[in-house]
Amino acid sequence: MNLLQDKVALITGASRGIGKAIALKFASEGANIAFTDLKDDENMASLVKELEGMGVKAKGYASNAADTEETAKTVAAVAADFGRIDILVNNAGITKDGLLLRMSEDQWDAVINVNLKSVFNFTKAVAPIMSSQRSGSIISMSSVVGVSGNAGQTNYSASKAGIIGFTKSVAKEFGKRGIRANAVAPGFIITDMTAQLSEEVRKDWASKIPLHRGGTPEDVANVCLFLGSELSSYVSGQVLHVCGGMNM
Ligand code: NAI
Repeated sequence: MNLLQDKVALITGASRGIGKAIALKFASEGANIAFTDLKDDENMASLVKELEGMGVKAKGYASNAADTEETAKTVAAVAADFGRIDILVNNAGITKDGLLLRMSEDQWDAVINVNLKSVFNFTKAVAPIMSSQRSGSIISMSSVVGVSGNAGQTNYSASKAGIIGFTKSVAKEFGKRGIRANAVAPGFIITDMTAQLSEEVRKDWASKIPLHRGGTPEDVANVCLFLGSELSSYVSGQVLHVCGGMNM
């Protein structure tokens, strides 16, 4: 029996990277997949094809997660196309790193809007749908640096810490309606972004991680599968670190 048979999952920023891995993992367990990204491009089209090839319903939506109005329209379209929403994965995120004294207001606003406001936008739009279903799982992508902080990432760390406070509050507000909310805090995950770093830098990271390797998008997707499925039916308001033991 598949863990997500006939469930509908909405995943933001999923045309590549961790979001894409989550979409593929969920589909492999029988979920129908609605996903967003900024543009309707080749990445979006090829993921839709790949998901359809797995025998599930799939559709990509071009939508800026930082835009409240656009998000409301996107969620309404997903509900109309798929009929329900069982799992929301707030995954879209960006970095615009820099030391605080050199950080511009634009760098701050962009990261807070894309990483944190997007979580407000999607959760607010999806919550009434899940409330009327009396069930739902909301998973938001935080980061280990949202817990521990990181020099050069005041904007990013603040956005990821904000997601944790938001998630715990949503868990308290919506628990009685059968909605669970949890955050995932990945450590160093090898994606397009991090693959560009030199071999030396990556080896240095790995040596500081108890499991001695960077994580894969699939490592993160497996934890999202747990949180999205009934395996985690009594887990809410938690932050699950997926970091090879880097943060304890
Ligand atoms: P990525 O850059 O490979 O993928 C992010 C996706 O989000 C891209 O497809 C991008 O186009 C999309 N996106 C960006 N802004 C958007 C917007 N305004 N609206 C809709 N979509 C938008 O990044 P990756 O590595 O897959 O990260 C996914 C999530 O995991 C992010 O929230 C990131 O902060 C988080 N994370 C990643 C870690 C890593 O080591 N790669 C570690 C900890 C957290």
